[in-house]
Amino acid sequence: MLNIEKHEKIMDIVKSELSCSAHNMDHVLRVHSLCLEIGKHEKNVNLNVLIPAALLHDIARVIESKDTTGKTDHAILGSEMAEKILKGLDYNDNDIEEIKHCIVAHRFRSGNEPRSIEAKILFDADKLDAIGAIGLARCFMLSGQFGQRLEIIDDLDQYIKENTTDNGRIKDVSKHTPFIEYEFKFKKIPKRLFTSSAKEIGNDRIKYMGRFFNRLTKEIKGIM
Ligand SMILES: [Fe+2]
Ligand SMILES: [Fe+2]
Repeated sequence: MLNIEKHEKIMDIVKSELSCSAHNMDHVLRVHSLCLEIGKHEKNVNLNVLIPAALLHDIARVIESKDTTGKTDHAILGSEMAEKILKGLDYNDNDIEEIKHCIVAHRFRSGNEPRSIEAKILFDADKLDAIGAIGLARCFMLSGQFGQRLEIIDDLDQYIKENTTDNGRIKDVSKHTPFIEYEFKFKKIPKRLFTSSAKEIGNDRIKYMGRFFNRLTKEIKGIM
């Protein structure tokens, strides 16, 4: 049976934690919907693990973005915050561990690979929200926030050399563009997904993005 009452309580807590950023809450709700959709195509999915994990996965996002030292990892901190919330709602230890694993593993780092089906679904849903029409809308929203230009950089290798650190972090975010994000990050997403239904959605979304950036390139260069 679904813990609907508990899920509603978690939703209220997450809303208050992410209150300063409607964008983050919208993302959480989209990831939640995608998790349910992908979950329909997989066997033995525990929705009482998957739903709380989807709702809580970015609970520490605001804290991470406010930390100017760059030391906060919202996946790790988020799993710790989730543990306290879930204990307060009388979740059993096993479910808490499963939910924490989903949250830690939604950010892919070596040693944190998703191992349960619920963690794989959450990972996939979270990544899908970065591509397709929604991915375009999100990256242009951010691009405006950082004062980026609408330009197409022809020499991407040179750009990478000049504007990224050895571990892949961007040095000056105002010099970055949605086009570069697409070339270096978004294009790789479908291949990294775990579930076949998410891969199908991902392939479709990335094709759409590719068509958009092709046309954008031509319009910027005055070809179209
Ligand atoms: Fe996240
Ligand atoms: Fe997320």
